[in-house]
Amino acid sequence: MKIGVVESAKRLLQGEVVGVPTETVYGLAASIGSPTAIQEIFSLKGRPANNPLIVHLAEGKEVLAFASHVSVDFYPLVERFWPGPLTLVLPVKPYKLPESALAGLSTGAFRVPSHPLARELIKLSGPLVMPSANLSGKPSATCADHVEHDFGVQFPVLDGGACACGVESTILYWQEGLKLWQVARLGAIEPAAFQDVLKYIPEVGAVAEASGEERGQKHVRPLCPGQMYRHYAPKASLLLVHVIPGGTHGVVIGFEDRAYPLGSQLISLGKSTDPLCALQRLYAILRRLDLDGIDVAWVDIDFPSDGLWLTLKERLLKASS
Ligand code: TXA
Ligand code: MG
Repeated sequence: MKIGVVESAKRLLQGEVVGVPTETVYGLAASIGSPTAIQEIFSLKGRPANNPLIVHLAEGKEVLAFASHVSVDFYPLVERFWPGPLTLVLPVKPYKLPESALAGLSTGAFRVPSHPLARELIKLSGPLVMPSANLSGKPSATCADHVEHDFGVQFPVLDGGACACGVESTILYWQEGLKLWQVARLGAIEPAAFQDVLKYIPEVGAVAEASGEERGQKHVRPLCPGQMYRHYAPKASLLLVHVIPGGTHGVVIGFEDRAYPLGSQLISLGKSTDPLCALQRLYAILRRLDLDGIDVAWVDIDFPSDGLWLTLKERLLKASS
């Protein structure tokens, strides 16, 4: 059920969960003052309790109410990338944010979205926690209809149209030991875009698990607890290949400027020179496979492994695993 911004704020302040557009993907929002609504987010999505939520703010300076200190280069990062699709993980002051949203961690993830309706809403409602508005493990939602599809036509959604990025925010994580920011999740901002501000390109990081090291094994876990789980996956098996085998008659997720076997059915990610377009279309395409009852789809992954292409490849790998 599509609702307006004032109605959305009212419901959030009354302790309800509302679907909210951002420039990346739609979020499932609850006020940070509503522990019951936060619990409801976990049960609606079927989300493991140890997977924390991102806190969304109207203004960057609001972070100072929650963060115990800000890491090196925080201010230049915020100046350059907020509002926008960047999430920063920072150590938090005790008792300022609900335990359930932090999933027991001593850090919190923060971002200031740039979608005008999201900003207008957060100004009215105050800070909101929002995971992506999809059932856990399934493709994210990039329009209001996707949210209604997952949570029912009666579920309240603020309709902000199609998401401009179509993929989640990039998450940066300060590694105190290394004195470096690392990428905890690839997303809508390519790592090379941070070079100007940081003077280095952050790498995709992980944490060494103490128990694994003790046993003499190299055991690492992702910086984001959520990265441990299956993600973005349609029911269909996705076969990722550099060349679609001749004679393929099924569905091919590929590029409109390429030729595929006669008799195959192309679902287009756009042009093979445009990773932004491919990301904007990705989740809608994965959802369409389920709607059309498709069991197997070939995916053309003959594209570069850098910039936003890397985000696309990472999402496809996760969706196919
Ligand atoms: O673009 C986005 O980031 C979207 C929109 C709605 O803002 N939100 C989103 O939320 O993608 P979600 O919950 O689907 O993914 C958030 C990721 C999860 O992998 C979670 O584990 C990680 O952020 N995360 C949250 N708090 C964290 C923390 N303190 N340390 C490390 N990772 C954290
Ligand atoms: Mg998600």
